[in-house]
Amino acid sequence: MTRVFSGIQPTGDLHIGNYLGAIRNWSRMQHETDAIFCVVDLHAITVPKTPGEVGAASLRLSQLLMAAGLDPAVCTLFVQSHVREHTECAWLMECSVSFGELSRMTQFKDKSDQHKDFISGGLFTYPALQAADILLYDTDEVPVGDDQRQHIEITRDIAERFNSRYGDTFVLPKAVVPKAAARVMDLQQPTNKMSKSLDSPKGTVNLLDEPKQIAKKIRSAVTDNDGEVSFDFTEKPGVSNLLSILGAATDRDPASLAGDYEQYGQLKVDAADAVVALLEPFQARFRELEADPGETARLLKVGAEKARETAAVTLARAKANIGFLAD
Ligand code: TYM
Repeated sequence: MTRVFSGIQPTGDLHIGNYLGAIRNWSRMQHETDAIFCVVDLHAITVPKTPGEVGAASLRLSQLLMAAGLDPAVCTLFVQSHVREHTECAWLMECSVSFGELSRMTQFKDKSDQHKDFISGGLFTYPALQAADILLYDTDEVPVGDDQRQHIEITRDIAERFNSRYGDTFVLPKAVVPKAAARVMDLQQPTNKMSKSLDSPKGTVNLLDEPKQIAKKIRSAVTDNDGEVSFDFTEKPGVSNLLSILGAATDRDPASLAGDYEQYGQLKVDAADAVVALLEPFQARFRELEADPGETARLLKVGAEKARETAAVTLARAKANIGFLAD
């Protein structure tokens, strides 16, 4: 069976970019594949956090993921720091990637610009930990949004380099990105991706926003003045973003949807209705899960034990292939 792995950081609330670009596909894929999903709390501390913040965010994110359809009885869902093989394997990865390769990572460039006062070493070596996450599980496919393609590519490069140095050890993974909404753009600045760190509350639709807020944000989305509805991200980023969102929310092709509209107003109304309809059952389910944090914690513990069974075997294989003195 195809092995699927993906991860998400417990930082800030989830937005429809995370949902349409990644999580919704995870909940679909879990039924057809052997799927593992990880709340990557170790990645979150690459930028400073207050004590306790990451733990609370990890619990909440796990509940959001379950509300979005991830079923711990069907897939493996766990928190990264609960499986210590991730950090140990990350060192092997760090030694298999070059300074130059790490320097080219867009996420590093963006985040180091945002946190100029303290750029941690971890922010720089972040992709090595991400490679460990993926390679520990003999992953075939990594369902992600478009912004993560580069990190999956570097993971493949690291795996290939390790395999050629030490013999066949890791499976080479490939990124799987959705047809619509692989890069949901900010509603107010449609040339920037919607992002937890952009600080654009009016341009970001959070999964827990009230239906009224969602409708308002989508209705006020920046478009342009020529009034023509067509799907072209270079010429018409705002309108194309709305078509993508509507297409992803209704499982239709964004380019062909463009023909159904003569005005921006109706497109905005339909996109808002579709997003609200998609999120209403999700929000109700989240409120139920939120009421029982003990049960969430129990499920995550079971998930970590399951994940560890695979991670330990792969790490042992990697160490044996390097040929460390046996302990
Ligand atoms: P993160 O936490 O930023 O985002 C989680 C997922 O959401 C997708 N995404 C989007 N998709 C479409 N449009 C957007 N505007 C948008 N914003 C975010 C991301 O592509 C991602 O799939 N480095 C990763 C976390 C990670 C990981 C891993 C992923 C750590 N280890 C191993 C896969 C496999 C990150 O920061 O994602």
